[in-house]
Amino acid sequence: MNILAELKKRFHDVMAEYAGDSDVQSLLDMIRPAQDARFGDYQANCAMPLGKQLGKAPRDVAAEILEKVQIDDICSHTDIAGPGFINLTVCQDWLNSQVNSAAADNRVGVGLVKDPETYILDYSSPNVAKPMHVGHIRSTVIGDSLARTLRFLGHKVIADNHLGDWGTQFGMIIYGYKHFVDQQAYQQHEVKELSRLYRLVNQLIEYWKSKKGLGSQQRQIEERMTDVERLERVDPTGDKKEDKKHAKALGRARGQLAQARQALELLHAKVTAVDGDQQLYAYAQQHPDIARSSLLETAKLHEGDVTNRELWEEFLPKCREDIQRVYTRLNVEFDVEYGESFYHEMLPGVVAGLQEVGLASESEGAQCVFLEEFETPMIIQKSDGAYLYATTDLATINYRMKEWDADEILYVVDHRQSEHFQKLFAVANAWNAPDVKLHHISFGTVLDENGRPYKTRSGDAVGLEGLLDEAVRKAFEVVSANDDGKPNGPELDEATRNHIADVVGHGAIKYADLSHNRTSDYVFSYDKMMALEGNTATYMQYCYARVQSIFRKGGVELAELRRSPRAIVLGHEAERALAMMLMRYSEALGNVLDEYRPNQLTNYLFDLAKRFSSFFEQCPVLKAEDEAVKQSRLQLCDLTGRVIAHGLSLLGIGVVEQM
Ligand code: ARG
Repeated sequence: MNILAELKKRFHDVMAEYAGDSDVQSLLDMIRPAQDARFGDYQANCAMPLGKQLGKAPRDVAAEILEKVQIDDICSHTDIAGPGFINLTVCQDWLNSQVNSAAADNRVGVGLVKDPETYILDYSSPNVAKPMHVGHIRSTVIGDSLARTLRFLGHKVIADNHLGDWGTQFGMIIYGYKHFVDQQAYQQHEVKELSRLYRLVNQLIEYWKSKKGLGSQQRQIEERMTDVERLERVDPTGDKKEDKKHAKALGRARGQLAQARQALELLHAKVTAVDGDQQLYAYAQQHPDIARSSLLETAKLHEGDVTNRELWEEFLPKCREDIQRVYTRLNVEFDVEYGESFYHEMLPGVVAGLQEVGLASESEGAQCVFLEEFETPMIIQKSDGAYLYATTDLATINYRMKEWDADEILYVVDHRQSEHFQKLFAVANAWNAPDVKLHHISFGTVLDENGRPYKTRSGDAVGLEGLLDEAVRKAFEVVSANDDGKPNGPELDEATRNHIADVVGHGAIKYADLSHNRTSDYVFSYDKMMALEGNTATYMQYCYARVQSIFRKGGVELAELRRSPRAIVLGHEAERALAMMLMRYSEALGNVLDEYRPNQLTNYLFDLAKRFSSFFEQCPVLKAEDEAVKQSRLQLCDLTGRVIAHGLSLLGIGVVEQM
């Protein structure tokens, strides 16, 4: 039972009377959980805007509304506060019966959606053979959690790992392989060597690009300096507004100068890194055309060149195996993993199709789609005939619509690609997928403690596994310290500690990612993510284990407890507060889907854990005053444990019985 949804249903017709069907949703959205328990369980703030609209006193409107809505069975108490807030208190008997039915339900009281949709989730999608980084974990973990939540609520989900297996990085690797491969290293660990080759070629390309850019960057700095000097020479006018404007302009100019200097420094660093290394320097001199040549290798691959195709076929499975290891550890599965290469042959059709309906046109030799909302067009074919990332994405939408007739497609990709997706969605909706809802589920950057993008030590896919290893190692320390500190001595043997560390370590990484508002950047810190107190997976897992320890201590057979449940009775205020929170699980899941934000679920779980803590402090369970109360409290504990474990499972995180 979703109490909030039920209340909204009850208010719907009355709100429609006032507002007409068009605005009814925004009024219903004003029914919310109460901020403060003293005012009841839910509040409806719709009387204020309605009063304004109708020219009536909001308090009178509130009274009228309460007169008309039928909520007697759900609410025992209603009142009107302040300017016209409607406060609603859920009826005790009703809450009792709802909690009891949630406890008896293997979906812990969460219903299925009325109108299931078909969702395609495009997530993880790393560029294979290119170092995988923490950003890819973020996409993987957010996408996986959304997939699990959508499925649980009854939607059909196709999880698609849109691997970058066809792009320019393959040309780079092929070029690297042809010129620089260390066969022995390749035999030992193919992907590690391919990854090294990618980085090497990339470094040489960047070297030449930076070297060529030095002159113009220097000129930019001179221009900026002239700007600053010019502004510095201007005397104050005495006019406050003028002077302030001037100071602002000067500040801006100085900022731009600093930025330009920084950019120059970066170019210098890239150049000196190569110049200062004999081997690299020699490579650079031998391969001055490396940027163009790598592009050529990509073009040859796309045209079906036999050697390049063979190399691609040799490299790809190895790269995929490597990525698969990370997915296995993270317990992430996909329904399909077509990747960009799958769509290659459909690309000419995309261009032709867009030309046919007059959406694509030629500009400077390239095929472009011009869109009113954007300054620059979407290029779908370059003048040399090459197709682009966007062309593949259009072909992918075509395919997905034909194959699955999707209602919505979610792209879990970092925020730097937002312009790409805005254009893609505009073109797709204008062309061949007018009705599908397309969302860019964008996310921020993972930062290190200095506020810079987080890099794993070796900066490659191996490094990503190293990051997981490190989390498990730290988790082992946390678990061991906790166990060693137990009043009656340690309880866990080495094997159990290892198992717990595995669940806790991986869980910590995922939860840290999911508990931050996805659109914000966040600082990656092992210590914070494994803290035993606070909004962490470790705390939630600890809370779950604590519930289980109550059963162990009391010799309670869980199967027995569930087979013949005794009624949960909410006598104490802390019991009621806990029960109310347990009932709000389905609301939390609805909130996750509202804007596709898993942190709505982590916030909820954290609130639930806090309510449980305060219940546990105030209400003795095993030493309850009588057997009926004890049984009721045991049921509440069990339901709490089940909701925590279930919520964590929707985040892709496991639990342990003991910690
Ligand atoms: N391979 C891309 C990258 O790593 C992400 C692909 C996202 N999905 C898509 N359909 N464009 O940047």
